[in-house]
Amino acid sequence: MAAFSELVFSGVQPTGNLHLGNYLGAIRRFVEMQARDAQCLYCVVDLHAITLWQDPEALKAQIREVTAAFLAAGIDPRRSIVFNQSQVPQHAELAWVFNCVARLGWLNRMTQFKDKAGKDREAASIGLYDYPVLMAADILAYRATHVPVGEDQKQHLELTRDIAQKFNTDFAGSIVAHGHGDGEGTGFFPVTEPLIGGPAARVMSLRDGTRKMSKSDASDNARINLTDDADAIASKVRRAKTDSDALPSEVAGLAGRAEADNLVGIFAALKGITRDAVLAEYGGAQFSAFKGALVELAVETLSPIAAQMKRLSADPGHIDAVLADGSERAEAIAAPTLDAVKDIVGFVRRTRLRSV
Ligand code: TRP
Repeated sequence: MAAFSELVFSGVQPTGNLHLGNYLGAIRRFVEMQARDAQCLYCVVDLHAITLWQDPEALKAQIREVTAAFLAAGIDPRRSIVFNQSQVPQHAELAWVFNCVARLGWLNRMTQFKDKAGKDREAASIGLYDYPVLMAADILAYRATHVPVGEDQKQHLELTRDIAQKFNTDFAGSIVAHGHGDGEGTGFFPVTEPLIGGPAARVMSLRDGTRKMSKSDASDNARINLTDDADAIASKVRRAKTDSDALPSEVAGLAGRAEADNLVGIFAALKGITRDAVLAEYGGAQFSAFKGALVELAVETLSPIAAQMKRLSADPGHIDAVLADGSERAEAIAAPTLDAVKDIVGFVRRTRLRSV
């Protein structure tokens, strides 16, 4: 691996319906981060996906679709490492060790589990409960220093830091004794920087500006899918919920107007400008006019991605080759981490047999 000063890791679940929120909140930032002095790893987290039931045939298609979206959006698979989690066994292996580091009390505080498990918590899979521990393993198997995620993943990143710190303290003596320290202290795992936010980290539903745009929303009109064509984008934006007032000329005027705020935020993010700059141009305009401009901008940005996804989908062999290549390169980074972890924890590692 080339000597980069940073290691960026992030993941997207292959659970269907990639939408504008995934693009503006995650994938587009992944593309931008390629400009840093960083090795970037972008993972399709299929092990996470099965914490909720997934139809096996649909899952295969969705893994390839997320990969196609990464490539279509501009992630360069030679520069970045693009792969799916299940092809690299170190994720699950490290998660087991971390299961023995993380505490029940820590996981009991995870709000995403409570949301996803719903009322019948007894019926949730153990994987759903353990989801954040696997996420810590994803990040720390590569000893990632930077993790771009949305606001909703903040608590999971804090847990990742807690796990790294507890591992470093619990095994401080062994880390030093076996020569795995960083030379400065006893740390083996870095305490990862979350990179949360950006103006577009939260894209809300087109039907209800108080709820996040979601792949599981029953109404397809609530989201713009990355595979939508120009007609679909136009019809969804034109039907997006608004209030009946004109656009305000300042951001303060968006307070209490969730739907208006969302559309202005989407416009700003697509164009790479601030909400203020959007309102400087459209303040006083009616939504009908603003929506027209938004349709044009959204189609201009998203249509080339949809078209490229379509071309890539026609060649699953190419997608699978990208994933195989990425997985090999990912494993080359993760395997030495796991070797060291086994050494630190006290496992006796397999030696070469003398007679074969
Ligand atoms: N939990 C993340 C999400 O739903 C996906 C994810 C899994 C992830 N492992 C990760 C993100 C590691 C960043 C780093 O968005």
